[in-house]
Amino acid sequence: MPLVPLRPVLDATVKYGYAQGAFNVNAVAQAEAVIAVHEMFRSPAILQGADLANAFMGGRVDFANGTLEDKKKGARNIAEAVKKFAEQSPIPVVLHLDHGISYEQTVQCLRLGFTSVMYDGSHDSLADNIRESQTVVRSAHAVGVSVECELGAISGVEDGISHKNVNLVDVDEVREFISKVDCDALAVGIGNAHGMYQGTPHFDFDRLQACQKLSPPPLVLHGGSGTPDDMIRQAIKLGIRKINVATELRMAFMEGLESTVGQRDFYQMYRTAKENMAALARHKIQLFQGKL
Ligand code: G3H
Ligand code: ZN
Repeated sequence: MPLVPLRPVLDATVKYGYAQGAFNVNAVAQAEAVIAVHEMFRSPAILQGADLANAFMGGRVDFANGTLEDKKKGARNIAEAVKKFAEQSPIPVVLHLDHGISYEQTVQCLRLGFTSVMYDGSHDSLADNIRESQTVVRSAHAVGVSVECELGAISGVEDGISHKNVNLVDVDEVREFISKVDCDALAVGIGNAHGMYQGTPHFDFDRLQACQKLSPPPLVLHGGSGTPDDMIRQAIKLGIRKINVATELRMAFMEGLESTVGQRDFYQMYRTAKENMAALARHKIQLFQGKL
């Protein structure tokens, strides 16, 4: 099937009260494994390339130093791979730019065929975040692409994304933001963090509930990796409809390689690593759909 925008996929989650996983892919094997697992559930899939990590797909191992050109090259590579898999797949696939940090970057991804882009203005002033997000929405919606925005900078380091000033989302800012920005999804900081948590995370569920009461666009939880299942269930109950997972997917791949390295068999190692990723994605999909 051709790629699809994010919005209709999230509309289904709102209608039926579940959450859709969104998996960061930095390698073709990840894209292939994640789509294959979603096919088993006949579920739409959201595959996303993060700002800096796209530079990895553009050939920069030190992707944190990636240039806009490196990121563009990487975004093109991941887009071509995902488009190819999606065309051969019976399920709807969304190709999403994760944590886009400039208008220019989102436009590049529009040109590359992404069907959804995130503009992450959470570390700017509210006024700047609103202004830039409105601009991204105008461009993206003009060509049928969905937009995710963010309020309340998510902490932690994820694919080189890190925010110094971590802040919990301000509910009044949500009220103002959604009255001015017609985005299709809104990521909120409620104590969630990128990367694996040191200990059990603490989410401000009252804050999440207060945000949901404003009837915002579908809410997004970043930092899905390492979040205890019962906290995921509670977040979904209170309105989270898209949950991003990156670190755990990469860890599953690495653990697969580690567990088979002694066999000195490339094919066995690669297959086990992909099967590990698929098993993780399977667990997350079932959990997010309320089946676990
Ligand atoms: O934007 C990406 C996600 O927020 C991933 O976070 O690595 O903690 O799963 P995670
Ligand atoms: Zn994130």
